[in-house]
Amino acid sequence: MAETNGTHEPVFLIFGKSGWIGGLLQEELKKQGATYHLADARLEDRAAVIAEIEKYKPTHVLNAAGVTGRPNVDWCETHKQETIRANLIGCLTLADVCAQRDLHMTYYGTGCIFHYDEDFPVDSGKGFKESDKPNFTGSYYSYTKAIVESLLKEYPNVLTLRVRMPIVPDLTYPRNFITKIIKYDKVINIPNSMTVLPELLPMSIEMAKRKLTGIMNFTNPGAISHNEILQLYKDYIDPEFTWSNFTVEEQAKVIVAPRSNNLLDTDRIKGEFPELLGIKESLIKYVFEPAAAKKEETLKAVREMRGR
Ligand SMILES: NC(=O)c1ccc[n+]([C@@H]2O[C@H](COP(=O)([O-])OP(=O)(O)OC[C@H]3O[C@@H](n4cnc5c(N)ncnc54)[C@H](OP(=O)(O)O)[C@@H]3O)[C@@H](O)[C@H]2O)c1
Repeated sequence: MAETNGTHEPVFLIFGKSGWIGGLLQEELKKQGATYHLADARLEDRAAVIAEIEKYKPTHVLNAAGVTGRPNVDWCETHKQETIRANLIGCLTLADVCAQRDLHMTYYGTGCIFHYDEDFPVDSGKGFKESDKPNFTGSYYSYTKAIVESLLKEYPNVLTLRVRMPIVPDLTYPRNFITKIIKYDKVINIPNSMTVLPELLPMSIEMAKRKLTGIMNFTNPGAISHNEILQLYKDYIDPEFTWSNFTVEEQAKVIVAPRSNNLLDTDRIKGEFPELLGIKESLIKYVFEPAAAKKEETLKAVREMRGR
């Protein structure tokens, strides 16, 4: 694979520069003092993608581009062609262009392509492995993501990261999983694998440098339930916080497409990064302790956001 830019230092090219994960990757690379460039090309525009790769001559491509839907993935149900264009045609085009140049691509995909079932019961501790075939295509978003993951497997230059329910320390950031559940009137209560971004994103850059390929469950080890997270919020930030639960059947009435709930196996990622914290420890270290250190500010911002 492409090894050098003349100085033997890696050169990253980020697709998805205006997105959430793309923005966090820029911050992290800047912090590390790494060389990186931002791509403007639409993924599905092969000529434009090639032109940018020839212009910047990256040693590593980070693909954090794709449609995720606004305000949420339900958008994909009514925008199927746009979803196919970005998440399937676009993602494959970039992977294919990189493969032809022997260039490593890290793809920030999703683990929302699995769902607990009779073979993987909730609370059994049995997690879906990288080799397991997706069993959740209940939303159009997940459907396209499951297809693209299975096709990307044929590209030896690609690392596919299964991101799930990403979390950041800012408890008012609307895409943060914790922000969402603090804000909802009612929440389901199911243990899930989740991705604490401040701990895991730097590891993804290291994985790119190591030129890992194939599929990687990109979550902290273990699962945590909605109620356990809300209890942490109550313990660390707001002792007066209360919430109520509803069932998956009741939840189905307020969303369009079903959502996945699952536990992903983390043996592969722990093999690479034995220091990776379990989900609860990671949440405490990267989210709740920093938020508690500026408790009054956090509490005020969250209460304003919730309007209650
Ligand atoms: N956020 C989550 O909850 C979550 C969970 C699991 C996995 N992921 C995955 O992680 C990746 C990044 O997610 P994110 O939350 O950072 O997404 P995001 O905030 O919605 O950003 C998506 C980025 O992709 C770009 N983009 C969309 N279509 C494109 C196209 N056809 N060509 C080029 N760029 C395009 C957008 O640019 P424009 O605005 O210019 O279109 C934007 O910069 C996605 O693959 C997503 O599926 C996200």
